[in-house]
Amino acid sequence: MAAQATNPQSIVIPVGNLIRNPKSEMPSPVIILGSSRSKGNTRLVAESLAERLSCDIIDLNDYTFSYYDYEHRNEGDDFLPLMERIIAEYDTIIFATPVYWYSMSAVMKTFFDRMSDLLTIRKPLGRQFRGKQMGAISVGYDEDTVQGLDMPFRESASYLGMTYLGHVYAWVVDGRVANAPSEQLSAICGRLR
Ligand SMILES: Cc1cc2nc3c(=O)[nH]c(=O)nc-3n(C[C@H](O)[C@H](O)[C@H](O)COP(=O)(O)O)c2cc1C
Repeated sequence: MAAQATNPQSIVIPVGNLIRNPKSEMPSPVIILGSSRSKGNTRLVAESLAERLSCDIIDLNDYTFSYYDYEHRNEGDDFLPLMERIIAEYDTIIFATPVYWYSMSAVMKTFFDRMSDLLTIRKPLGRQFRGKQMGAISVGYDEDTVQGLDMPFRESASYLGMTYLGHVYAWVVDGRVANAPSEQLSAICGRLR
């Protein structure tokens, strides 16, 4: 991991309490936040995009769901109702994850693993991903993104029949977004229906 970067063009985006944006109308984008801390750096970056898009943020820490189970003994946990809601309410799903050990966070990976429920016990629900859009945001400490970090998002979108909007990397140092990913965020926004 790289040493701390100093960037004179650093921007500061305040961390708010936005969970649901009352201005949003259906169908709208949603940001799925999957970090080990709900008010950390990934939230900071997710909120900057949510403000631009007037969209909702769903924090996976607000839900209880366990690792993928081949026997589906966990089908009564929060995953399936949450997924039903996401699929019913949103056409564009943007995953926001911190970079943990050159990869997505554990909670985000668990969420993705559980999507296998939609290929097994809930196939009709899984088919409803087709035609929707997916994007990804990753937030790390290093100045450069981890090569291949967005591959699971890109390939999953393709597998599920979704349009992939792209990946934006931001790094945060001392509570500041050290790069200015606004151009990339705008590019993603521009690709939103
Ligand atoms: C367990 C762990 C592993 C990390 N691994 C990396 C890494 O591989 N590359 C990187 O740039 N930053 C890494 N970091 C730093 C975080 O990605 C960075 O601080 C990020 O902004 C944290 O976001 P959060 O506040 O949402 O957790 C790691 C942090 C933790 C806690």
